[in-house]
Amino acid sequence: MSKNDLKSLDRNHLIHSVTNFRAHERSGVSILERGDGAYLFDTDGNKLLDAFSGLWCVNTGYGQESIVKVAAEQMSRLPYATTYFGFGSEPAIRLAAKLADRAPGSLNHVYFTQGGSDSIDSAIRYITHYFNAIGKPQKKQFIALERGYHGTSSIGSGLTGLPAFHVNFDVPLANQHHIPSPYPYRHESGDDPAALIASSVKSLRDKVGALGADNVAAFFCEPIQGSGGVIIPPRGWLKAIREACTDLGILLVADEVITAFGRTGPLFASSAEDVVPDIITLAKGLTAGYAPMGAMLFSDEIYNAIADAGINGAVVGHGTTYSAHPVSAAIGLEVLRLYEEGGLLANGEKVAPIFEQGLQALREHPLVGDARQRGLLGALELVADKASKQRFDASLRLSARIQKKAYENRIIFRAFADDILGFAPALCYTESELALLFERLLQTLDAVLDDIDVRRSVA
Ligand SMILES: Cc1ncc(COP(=O)(O)O)c(C=O)c1O
Repeated sequence: MSKNDLKSLDRNHLIHSVTNFRAHERSGVSILERGDGAYLFDTDGNKLLDAFSGLWCVNTGYGQESIVKVAAEQMSRLPYATTYFGFGSEPAIRLAAKLADRAPGSLNHVYFTQGGSDSIDSAIRYITHYFNAIGKPQKKQFIALERGYHGTSSIGSGLTGLPAFHVNFDVPLANQHHIPSPYPYRHESGDDPAALIASSVKSLRDKVGALGADNVAAFFCEPIQGSGGVIIPPRGWLKAIREACTDLGILLVADEVITAFGRTGPLFASSAEDVVPDIITLAKGLTAGYAPMGAMLFSDEIYNAIADAGINGAVVGHGTTYSAHPVSAAIGLEVLRLYEEGGLLANGEKVAPIFEQGLQALREHPLVGDARQRGLLGALELVADKASKQRFDASLRLSARIQKKAYENRIIFRAFADDILGFAPALCYTESELALLFERLLQTLDAVLDDIDVRRSVA
């Protein structure tokens, strides 16, 4: 089928995620044809450097033949197995055991989902079930961070702290609350990590106090906020939040959909912070995007409470047709092998300092106010005035211009609406691919700065 036919069919029939429908009709789709390592190829013949791992998920890079092989083998042997009626499949059982083995603390129980939003929704449902089961049915309030992202399910989207995901969707619900983001660059105590941590913990304590600790079920947070603009709290923040949650008698859910599987260094960001959450939610790097799958890990304590409450024979009424899908699980096992034995985690750790240097060097650029990074997750925050941290006027539509110029320079990264640029190169990146990333990024920033109205806006 010709490219133009496809573009027209796309306009007429395919709904795109988080997109302005009319704007998309005007701009049309960019059709991706194939991927190889760190590169994507589109139907216009462009070879694009993917500096975002798809949607921060293809942590292995594209074209990993061993993943394709295990998927094909699993498909021909057993393409589907339900987990209803006591059935299961070997890859799902082995993957659950491996995740439990590597997860911190007693997070020994794995429920497989279709992706991140489903992991969040499952966590909310199991938490609700748990508190009802242990005789604390009044614990129904949920707290999360402003600028947090927890997907777009009908309940989970209310925990997301980004207004774009609320408009016309009637969330947050009355039992969903937010506290300020621990955002070093824009926090009043940003230069003082201890003060920022104390202020964030105080916000949580105040919120729980206002709602009544007996009414609060859980606090949800990403160890590093991804879609909110790669906001990296100071080291020690997650631990202080863990201690506050324990003290307040509320559960801590670490949403590691982005931060796990080597994206920030180790398999789990929580482990790097020496923190054991009550629940961890996963997706993305679990299968490196080669097939859909998420997971929710919960502690012995939650598992046993739910198990004991079901003694009269009642089922726990949560499950889906595709939970623990054997093909996704087989892919997950191979992806995990590539991270560990295949050296991808080690390569990520090796090249992360080069990634950091490249970002930090761009602080000198007239458009850049802040550069931040952990592992292979990073961001540049663009400002009109470095001294006051004043953002560019929204009428300049800087993010959209950057996205367009980046494509012309054959590099893909994420330009968020508030002029934050997000980067998540695959763990297979070489030093020369990182050099190319920064070469094309600099070209892009310089090209946008050459626009006369942008140049005039820089203080
Ligand atoms: C931290 C976090 N949680 C949840 C989600 C939702 O995951 P999905 O898009 O797979 O539903 C995302 C997606 O980007 C995420 O970054």
